[in-house]
Amino acid sequence: MSPAQHRALDALLPTLGIPFAPVPIDLDRAFGRRAPRVLEIGFGMGETTAAIARTRPDDDFLGVEVHAPGVGSLLKRVGELGLTNVRVIRHDAVEVVAAMIPPASLVGVQVFFPDPWPKKRHHKRRLLGPAFVHELAQRLVPGGYLHVATDWEDYAQEILAVLGAEPLLANTAAGFAPRPDYRPLTKFEARGLKLGHSVRDLVFCRRDDTVTENAG
Ligand SMILES: C[S@@+](CC[C@H](N)C(=O)[O-])C[C@H]1O[C@@H](n2cnc3c(N)ncnc32)[C@H](O)[C@@H]1O
Repeated sequence: MSPAQHRALDALLPTLGIPFAPVPIDLDRAFGRRAPRVLEIGFGMGETTAAIARTRPDDDFLGVEVHAPGVGSLLKRVGELGLTNVRVIRHDAVEVVAAMIPPASLVGVQVFFPDPWPKKRHHKRRLLGPAFVHELAQRLVPGGYLHVATDWEDYAQEILAVLGAEPLLANTAAGFAPRPDYRPLTKFEARGLKLGHSVRDLVFCRRDDTVTENAG
């Protein structure tokens, strides 16, 4: 971790960090206001999170990341940009979603370039399997979006199949979606493009008609 990331972590985590606790989080209290909320999982160094949060000041962004230097890096950006609509949980997102995120509380979930675990024997470690996707879908309000991007073709196909099979979700595109303008290019993406990988965006939204029977 760089000294600047360390300083940002020390200075801002006490106010902008939310400690993991196995109880549902009061998001209005955490952000100090009532606003639409977006969860970003595995934000890496936080370039995308900060860039999107900056362009959407009326929405709140909850970033979950396990990697401490990444958390320091995002907090550094948040401090430099003076953003007030970002909070961070430094913990495993699977546990955070299960324990802390209330049903139908999010207008969006973003997962950009999840670890691809390219070796076949490691595929089971991939984040976006059917069970976790179902949990995420339950956290969305009707019409809320789940936006995933990846530059690993076989993972992209797998995610497309998983999201397509989730009854709470509907695809907003026929297959992969065009890259939405709001998603800036990240380091991981630039590296993927350099390696000749194509980048796939997947944008699904929560169906309206499934709220009461499946919420919770
Ligand atoms: C390949 S990086 C992509 C980072 C960033 N989204 C980007 O596009 O540059 C994947 C990130 O997900 C984080 N991650 C992986 N599994 C996670 C989990 N279960 N909970 C939270 N973060 C996770 C990793 O620490 C890593 O920073």
